[in-house]
This record gives sequence, structure tokens and C-alpha cells, in this order.
Amino acid sequence: MRKDFLWGGAVAAHQVEGAYQTGGKGLSIADVMTAGSREQARRITAGVLEGEYYPNHEGIRFYEHYKEDIRLFAEMGFKCFRTSIAWSRIFPQGDEETPNEEGLRFYDDLFDELHKYQIEPVITLSHFEMPYELVKKCGGWRSREMIGHFIRFAQTVMERYKEKVKYWMTFNEINNQMILTNNIYAFTNSGILFEEGEDRLKTVYQAAHYEFVASAEVVRMGHEINPDFMIGCMVAATPVYAYSCHPDDVLLAQREDRKNLFFADVHARGHYPAYVKKEWERLGYQLDITKEDLEIIRKGCVDYIGFSYYLSSAISADPKVKKLGDDLAAGTDTVENPYLPMTPWGWAIDPKGLRYILNQYYDRYEVPLFVVENGFGFEDVMEDGQIHDQNRIEYLSDHIREMVKAVEEDGVDLLGYTVWGCIDPVSFGTGEMRKRYGFIYVDKKDDGSGTYERIRKDSFYWYQELINKMSK
Ligand code: BG6
Repeated sequence: MRKDFLWGGAVAAHQVEGAYQTGGKGLSIADVMTAGSREQARRITAGVLEGEYYPNHEGIRFYEHYKEDIRLFAEMGFKCFRTSIAWSRIFPQGDEETPNEEGLRFYDDLFDELHKYQIEPVITLSHFEMPYELVKKCGGWRSREMIGHFIRFAQTVMERYKEKVKYWMTFNEINNQMILTNNIYAFTNSGILFEEGEDRLKTVYQAAHYEFVASAEVVRMGHEINPDFMIGCMVAATPVYAYSCHPDDVLLAQREDRKNLFFADVHARGHYPAYVKKEWERLGYQLDITKEDLEIIRKGCVDYIGFSYYLSSAISADPKVKKLGDDLAAGTDTVENPYLPMTPWGWAIDPKGLRYILNQYYDRYEVPLFVVENGFGFEDVMEDGQIHDQNRIEYLSDHIREMVKAVEEDGVDLLGYTVWGCIDPVSFGTGEMRKRYGFIYVDKKDDGSGTYERIRKDSFYWYQELINKMSK
């Protein structure tokens, strides 16, 4: 492992900060999403409605507690901490000419606090939290106008924090929007609300194009602001396995895998791959893509690929094999992998899949990689004020073991590893608190009640020891 390997944890602003109307912050898309559960999807409401509960409004009150929380991260020995900048704290409506100074000051203080403990901030520019006004005004990333708004936001924060932040990522899990069956993904990635009967795939490809242009321009601009910046993309890495060695399954898996790879392909290689151009031709798509756009994309290849890894999926072309009907990663042809256990939320636990994906990406792109999310969502049980989360420790140790093999045995260049939800956040997918990820328990229930007290779980001490051992 690298001497300067970045061990740490990750969260996103909207899932922890709360204070949704404090310090001049505007409404973000996360502020109009109600609570849900595994069985019941979160709803997107037209603005903040009376009588509805929005779990992100208070998050876990990180906005007030961040000093105490960072002290706990330092106690575990974190080398880095990944979070995002809430765009709507900096540009509350999204289209202002001048930023909100109070919002900028909050992140100045946050980064200073991290540096006090030699913790390196790793920052996502857009993690499911664009200003809600931009959804109303221009339909989110349906509009080319968004490129300018995003670049203004990125330029503002990159210039402001050029001495405080080195590692950046543009769009969180940008490939999630390829999951077309659930409205939540296009909305959280791109602020898009699908209309009745519209060609969703075409809409998403167009939005993704504008995001690629914006991201590439930010990479170019960021290097001008500070040549030492490392600017990456961020994708959800979910390998798709063939259910059997039947060539139909293998070909189907390859095709499905490309839905994910497509995004890293464009970010890292700087051009559209042949398979997608053929798909557009076949579907008769004429997208708004100019020569200048392609030139920007060509010149703005990312410095590294950041990715989240939680699960793998399996897929079968055989109609007789029972489909899960789940929409994660491999669409409706996903089947249960008989070799893997699942979390209570139906995510296949596959540590070797992490080694597989690290190798797949490194073979394909030959740029450094960064595991910026990996974690175990589980309903922790409190016993006498303590949480013995042995299953989380096992999940993480198994994944870390495979990750280390990818580096030490396979030669993958890996920058770091940040455990998702290092302090229990509000779940993005369900809005629940009961789906906990943290080393640090937060006393908040699904309905928002609780003391918000922070409690160290057993995994806290385990991770502390691991970082200590691995950093010697
Ligand atoms: C990723 C996101 O999808 O996975 C995070 O980048 C999210 O924002 C995490 O929280 C885990 O998903 P969930 O739905 O369990 O919170």
C-alpha cells in the first residue's frame, strides 16, 4: 500500500448537515424528499409541504456537531474525510452572480477543523443536492444552462479552498441515473422529473452529456486554479456477473456492465465509446452534442476514478430463471446470486467483487483509483448503551482484505479507502436512520426524534486499530 494511503470515512452534506435553512442556505433537491423504507419509495414533493416529514432537514445535525464529530474521526486515526459541499449553501437559488459568504465560511471552518488533525478533505462537488430552484427554472440537467451554473459554483469553491482541498470529485454516482425504473435516481443525479410517456433513456443520455461537458471543463479549470489538484469522477461500481456460462448470459452481462462503464469511459478516456454511438444510432437519438463539447470532453480527462462499491449483481437471459425484479444496476433481468448472502436490504455481499472491479477499472483506464464508499447498512442493536456490530466489522474486514490483494498482488494503484457513513447518516435511498452505516452511532430515530448523542460502536475501535496497523 502507498505510504500516504488515505484511510478514512465518507458522508455527503445533505445526509448529515441538517440546518437546511440556516446561514442563508436555499432549498436543495434533498429537502423535498420524504422519508421512505425498503418497501415504500421516498416521494418527491412539489416544494416543502406542510404535514410531510423530510429527514434531510435536520440530517444528524452535523452543521452544529461537526467539531465533536471530527474529533471522533481523529480519534480513529482518519487520514482523510470525504464529504460534499452543499451547492445550495453557496448559491441558494443556483443562478446568483455572487455566492453566499456565510455558506463559504462554514466550509472554511470545517476544512480548518479537519486540518487541525491532519485530516485531508476529499470533496464531492455535487452529491445529490443541487439547488431546487434550478429544477423549477430549467428542469435540472435537461438544460444546457446548467453547465454554466455548475462551473460558476465549482470555480467559486475551488478558488476559495485552493489551499485547503486537494482531492475533488465532480458528480456523485453519476451512473445511477441509468436506473430508469425508479424516479428517484434521475432526480437526485440530475434534478430531472420524468414526464408521462417521455423517452427516459434519451433524457438521461442528454443530461449526462451536459454533465460530462461540465465535469471536463471543471477538470481543466481546476488544474489552472491549482496544478496540484487531483480531480476525479465518481461512479457506482456494481459489477454485473453472468448467471451461467451460457454465451447469452455472458453477452447480456457484458451489455449491462457497459451501462455503468460508459460513465467512467467518457470521464477517463475523453470520448464517447463506439458501443454507445451505435446504440444512439439504433434508437434514432439526435442529441445536442456540439464539436466544441467533444473538444472540452477530450481535454478534461479525470486524474483518478473515485467509486462506491457495495454489491455485485447477476443477470440471466433465460426467461425460466426467476428475476428479482430489482432495479439496482442490472435492471429487471437481475437474478439472485446463489453464492452470495444478502443484507436485509437485499444487497448481495461480495468482497471479491471489490477486487474484481479494482482490476477491471485499472486494466481499462490505467489511472489511480479511490474507493470512496464501501459500507454495511444494518439495523444496529443497542445493548446496555453499547453496539456490538460484529457483522459490520466482518463485512469491512473481508472487503479490505480483497482490496489489499488488488493492490499488493495485482498492482492496482489505489489512493485511499473511505468507509461510507462513518457516522450514521440519513439513508439516501430510503431516508431511514435504521439503515445504519457508522462507526459512530447517532441517537436519532426514523421519525427524527432522539437526543442526537454520538456513541462509539465496537467497529470504531476495530477501525482505529486497523488504521494504526496499516499506517506503520
Ligand atoms: C450511495 C450514495 O448510493 O450509497 C450515498 O453515494 C448513499 O449517498 C450510499 O447513502 C448508501 O445508500 P443508502 O441508500 O443505503 O443510503
